[in-house]
Amino acid sequence: MMEKENIMQTNKMYWDTNADAWFGTTALPNYGVRFVTEDDLHLFGDVSGKKILEICCGSGHSLKYHADRNAAELWGVDISDKQIDNAKAYLKENGYGAKFICSPMEADLEIPTDYFDFVYSIYGIGWTTDLDGTFAKIASYLKKDGVFIFSWHHTLNYCVGWSNTLRQNVAENERLLFSKSYFDESYFAMPVDGSEIILCNRKISTYVNALAKAGFCIEQMVEQTDHETMESLDDESAKTQKAKMLPISVCFKARKL
Ligand SMILES: C[S@@+](CC[C@H](N)C(=O)[O-])C[C@H]1O[C@@H](n2cnc3c(N)ncnc32)[C@H](O)[C@@H]1O
Repeated sequence: MMEKENIMQTNKMYWDTNADAWFGTTALPNYGVRFVTEDDLHLFGDVSGKKILEICCGSGHSLKYHADRNAAELWGVDISDKQIDNAKAYLKENGYGAKFICSPMEADLEIPTDYFDFVYSIYGIGWTTDLDGTFAKIASYLKKDGVFIFSWHHTLNYCVGWSNTLRQNVAENERLLFSKSYFDESYFAMPVDGSEIILCNRKISTYVNALAKAGFCIEQMVEQTDHETMESLDDESAKTQKAKMLPISVCFKARKL
């Protein structure tokens, strides 16, 4: 069993080293690659005058998205000093500001409770080492009837892969195979860009039950590959073909009861 502190330290080191490589890549209006966008889903609706907190705010591009739409107050939390520096600079360059907290989302933070209209996270929540605790904290930051939106890797994406993963394009007769149990939620280390990250692959029911336990009602769960990918006839790349067969990302919209 890997220690939570060790997991957070390893992941923080990855993000401090590699933040620039991901600058603006995982941000609204996108919820994930080859996935339907906020332009299709309208999960936020009108954010003008709203108080908004992003968990795992990364380079700040989603905060800018809300600033452009006249949000009243913006806050961002991220474990990586480098990501927070990038986000601060990016918002400043664009004439905006936000309150930033550099910390693990799992920690007790100086964030007001019963305060926010929206808390959200784009490809951030899955990094938590304490899902129940993180959702309970997020619920506490929200006003009653406040909305929590998050997207993450779909559980199936990590369980299923092409039989020949080395090929760029899908060859004839190639099959998608279950290479990992859907039920396996143990932590695994994954080499990325010459460095390492540590994650676990939680079942969809784990997210649903954790939301319920924290006092949320789920209003929408989205598993939809975007229209362009589904309609593309000439793209034989393994990623596109996979996205036509199963959800790569998942997105939840939940409301605090
Ligand atoms: C895929 S990026 C999301 C980026 C963000 N959506 C953006 O627009 O840049 C994941 C982010 O989660 C942060 N992170 C990883 N583990 C974390 C933790 N335990 N607590 C808070 N942030 C964490 C990383 O530093 C990174 O910025």
